[in-house]
Amino acid sequence: MKFKEALDFTKVVSGDKKEKLFDEETQSVLVELEKTTQDFWNVDESTANFLNLLIKIKGVKSALEIGTSNGYSAIWLAKALIETGGKLTTIEFWEKRSVLAIENFKKSGVFDVINVITGDAIDILGEMKKLNKEKFDFIFVDANKAEYIDYFNLYEPLLDKGGLIVADNIVSHYKKTKPFIDEIMKNPNYQTQILNFDAGILLSRKVN
Ligand SMILES: C[S@@+](CC[C@H](N)C(=O)[O-])C[C@H]1O[C@@H](n2cnc3c(N)ncnc32)[C@H](O)[C@@H]1O
Repeated sequence: MKFKEALDFTKVVSGDKKEKLFDEETQSVLVELEKTTQDFWNVDESTANFLNLLIKIKGVKSALEIGTSNGYSAIWLAKALIETGGKLTTIEFWEKRSVLAIENFKKSGVFDVINVITGDAIDILGEMKKLNKEKFDFIFVDANKAEYIDYFNLYEPLLDKGGLIVADNIVSHYKKTKPFIDEIMKNPNYQTQILNFDAGILLSRKVN
């Protein structure tokens, strides 16, 4: 009973976040998007709030998201980045979704801090790795779960020392994400913790 009350309490606390953080237009975009999270596979509000907090705490300047969908999580990321003076690059291979995301970014006033790349993350990250020009201090991974290990091998050289990786669906898609979890857990350059959020989040900091 006590545990259930505690869980209810987390929901109550989560309920008043948007009013504190966002203007009315952004709040209404987010509330609208929360009605279709099942169709667009968005993170839940507590995960989004956690990402927003992390960006502000770390003072992130250059963030990368793999898996934009209709832009729900990216709005939370970008709102924090406006505060830190940072920018977001987000990758989505389904064109219909990146078009929707761009509409949502415009409506919620974050379009100017987001670079939307439409294409397969494997190809895009491969190209970024080859060019070795862009660096990131925050990477949020939320695309094809079986590809998490491939994304890691491609973006890893682009992550700054002290940079953070956050990966969603670590518990809900454990079998598919396991090769990535195993790799990062045994990698001496990373300090890692799995958090019991909605679908299970992996948080890792590049030490060296
Ligand atoms: C779980 S959804 C992302 C949800 C989004 N982060 C949010 O919370 O609002 C995953 C998205 O990744 C896209 N995706 C999957 N594999 C991809 C790939 N290899 N390259 C680019 N996008 C991919 C899917 O089309 C889907 O829209």
